[in-house]
Amino acid sequence: MERREFIKMCAASAAFAARDVFAAADLKPRFYSRAQLVDDHGRPLKAARLVVGENYIFHYPFEGTPSFLLNLGKPTVREVELKTENGPAYQWSGGVGPKNAIVGYSAICAHRMTYPTPQISFISYRDKSTASRLMRPNTIHCCSEHSEYDPASGARVVGGPAPQPLCAILLEYDGENGELYAIGTLGGEMFNAFFDKFEFKLALDYGADRARQQVSGRTVVQELQQFCKQRVRC
Ligand code: FES
Repeated sequence: MERREFIKMCAASAAFAARDVFAAADLKPRFYSRAQLVDDHGRPLKAARLVVGENYIFHYPFEGTPSFLLNLGKPTVREVELKTENGPAYQWSGGVGPKNAIVGYSAICAHRMTYPTPQISFISYRDKSTASRLMRPNTIHCCSEHSEYDPASGARVVGGPAPQPLCAILLEYDGENGELYAIGTLGGEMFNAFFDKFEFKLALDYGADRARQQVSGRTVVQELQQFCKQRVRC
């Protein structure tokens, strides 16, 4: 074989191998400490007690990163193919619980990171009874610039400027006692950018350095209206 042809062949196989490596590098779940979901008295939260359509907030995987817990009332779509803004694909397996209807997502909007604070929330789940005429019902809606996410399909973007789905929080359901655990994340995490952007505010709300501490052992679940004083409904 001519030297030039050999070099061309090597370059072609290198490109092919790079594509293979890229495909193999698609996003995998990222596991953090396993944390039991508990109520505000510290008792294990039972999946059966979650009201359909209610917005619940818990913090995971860090003390200062709020997440939504939702009971959608019916089984979600399963094995949903999704992509992050930068390209890596991943597969969200679906809801958990007795009806496969319970889901968890980071409550940090994938557009400009609006998130629920103890003072106010611009982002929440809106079912048919709470959605306005201008929005899709049964979506997580961010009133900042109207990004909408479908929680029954891995929080894929169904409207607005968000460039990727909300990061999923992986939940585990214990069918014997009906209890729930958070175990990791799947999708486009934005936590580092979030900590950088809101460092000052997070220090005020959670205490210096506490916001970046990983949750371990348990995490308290509250209704959104308990966690935050004002809920904006656009
Ligand atoms: S920050 Fe949520 S839509 Fe812009």
